[in-house]
Amino acid sequence: MSVYQHDVIVVGAGLAGMRATIAAQSRGANVAMISKVHPVRSHSNAAQGGINAALTSRGDSWEDHALATVKGSDYLADQDAVEVMCQEAGAALIELEHMGVIFSRDEDGRLGTRRFGGQEQARTFFVADITGAAMLHVLYEQIMHSKVRVYEEWFVTSLVMEDGECRGVVAIELMTGQLHLIKAKAVILATGGSGRVYEPTTNGMVVTADGHALAYRAGAAIMDMEMVQYHPTTLKGNGVLITEAARGEGAYLLNSDGDRFMQKYAPHMMELASRDVVSRSEQTEINEGRGVDGCVFLDLRHLGRELIETKLSYIQEVAGDFANVDLSKQPIPIRPGNHYIMGGIKTDVHGATSIPGLYAAGECACVSVHGANRLGANSLLDTIIFGRRAGEAAAARATEVGDKPVPESVLSVDKEAIRSFLSRKPNKDMAAKIRLEMGETMNEHVAVFRNEAGMQTALQTIRQLRERYAELAVQDKGQVFNTNLLFTLELGFMLDTAEIICASALARKESRGAHFRTDIPQRDDANWLKHTLAYFTQAGPRIDYAPVTITRWQPQVRSY
Ligand code: FUM
Repeated sequence: MSVYQHDVIVVGAGLAGMRATIAAQSRGANVAMISKVHPVRSHSNAAQGGINAALTSRGDSWEDHALATVKGSDYLADQDAVEVMCQEAGAALIELEHMGVIFSRDEDGRLGTRRFGGQEQARTFFVADITGAAMLHVLYEQIMHSKVRVYEEWFVTSLVMEDGECRGVVAIELMTGQLHLIKAKAVILATGGSGRVYEPTTNGMVVTADGHALAYRAGAAIMDMEMVQYHPTTLKGNGVLITEAARGEGAYLLNSDGDRFMQKYAPHMMELASRDVVSRSEQTEINEGRGVDGCVFLDLRHLGRELIETKLSYIQEVAGDFANVDLSKQPIPIRPGNHYIMGGIKTDVHGATSIPGLYAAGECACVSVHGANRLGANSLLDTIIFGRRAGEAAAARATEVGDKPVPESVLSVDKEAIRSFLSRKPNKDMAAKIRLEMGETMNEHVAVFRNEAGMQTALQTIRQLRERYAELAVQDKGQVFNTNLLFTLELGFMLDTAEIICASALARKESRGAHFRTDIPQRDDANWLKHTLAYFTQAGPRIDYAPVTITRWQPQVRSY
C-alpha cells in the first residue's frame, strides 16, 4: 500500500472530469485525475449528436434555451441552475472551439447547427455524429499538456470520510491489485451515469453508477433517481444509440402502417418533441400492435446518401454493421432504450454536494438542470459548464482548508470486502448472472411505463439479488488486472443504485417527465412539484424531499 496526497482528486475522465481537472489545475491546485479506463475510453466518447448553446450573434437567446430546458424537464429542473447553464453556454462553446474542437461548418463556413428535440431553434453545435469523441480528445490534449497526474486504470472503492467530511479516496491499482490511499482536500466525482443498471442500454460497459454509489454510501443526498431517460432511437437487440441528430436532420418515425405516428402525439414538434414524449409515443404504437418485433422505424431515405455520409456517417456504419441496413435505402427498426439518468448526487451550481469536501459534476450529479427529462445535447453542455465550476470550487476549497489527518486504517473495510470475495470457493452465482437479472428486471418494470406492482416486483428482485451478491465468490483469485473482481465491485455499486431508483420511483405518486405511471397518469403539481432525496440506511434508502427552485417560469400544461 502507498499513500498519495493531492489538493484535488477528480474521479472519472469523461468530459466533466477532464473539464473539472483543467479548471482546478488552472486555479493552481495540485490536481490528479483517477480513471478506471484509459481516459479516452470514457463513455463521453460515445456522445453523438451535439452540444446546445444559444448564440446571440445568431439571433438566439439564452432565455429561450432555458425555457425549452425547463419545459423539457416537466418543470422539475431548478431554474437558477438552468439559467446558469444556458447563460454560460455560448462562451463555453467558443472556448471549446479555441481549444481545438473542429465543429462542423455550414455552407457559409460558420459553425453549423442542427435542431434537437424539445426546441424550436437549431442551436445544437456538432462534429458530424461523433461530437463527444471530438471534444474528449481535445480536452485530453489539454490534460496531457498540463502534466496533471493521471492514475490510469485505478478503480475507486470508497470515499475517505473523517469528521463528516471527505478527505480522499481508497482505490485499487488494477495492474497490481494493490489498494492505496489517496488523500485530498477536495474530491470531485465525475464518474458518469448508471446505464448498465439496465439491460439493454446505449451506455458502454464502464457506465456502472460508481459515483452514485460511492456518494450514497458516504451519506450524500442522492436526488430524483426515478428520472431515467429512455432514448427514442436505439437499435433493436443490442440497444446501440442511433443519434437524435438523424431526426434533427429530418428523419421520420414510422409505424408498421407506414404512418408518421408522431402527428397524433405531438402535432407541432412531431419527431422533435421531447424524448419522454417521443419514447412514450413509440411504446404506445408498439403496445397497440402497430410495431414490428417490438420496434417502430426510423426513415432517413429522403435525406439522401450525401447528407447521411457527411453528417451521419457513424450511424450509417452502425446500421450497416449491427442491422445490415443501408440508411439511404431502408428504414431502420428502432425502439426506446435506456440512455441517461437525470437524477444523481445532489449538488449546488458549484458542484458542492451535501458532504463538505465532496463535489460532483456531469451525469453522476444532479444540479438539477434536467429535472424529469433531459433535452438532447444538454448533457455535453452540463458536463462542460458544471465540470468547470466544480473544478474551480474544489480548487478554492483547497486553498482554504489545511492538511487533515487520515488514519491508514481506512483501508481495512475495503481490504476485508475484497478478501472475502476472493477467499470464497466459486459458487453457482456469478456476477454476470446477477447483473443480467438486475438489468432485465429494471428494463421490464422501471422503464418508459411503470406501475406500483411492477416497481414493487423490481424492488423485491433487487433486494434478493443483493442477498445473493453478499455471498458471491470471485473466480479469478489473481492480483494482476483482476477484471473479475472489478466487475464484482461494479456490480455492488449498481445494485445499490438500482435499489435507489426503485425506491425513489415507488415514492413518487404522480407522472412527470420520464416517470410515467400507468396507474397515476397525471402530473400533480400541488403535491409533487418537489425533488426526491434518497439517503443511505442499512435497511435501504430513506426517502425525503426538497423544494424545486422556480425563478421565472411557472409550471404549464406541457404539449409539443
Ligand atoms: O441522440 C444523441 O445524439 C444523444 C444525445 C444526447 O443524449 O444528448
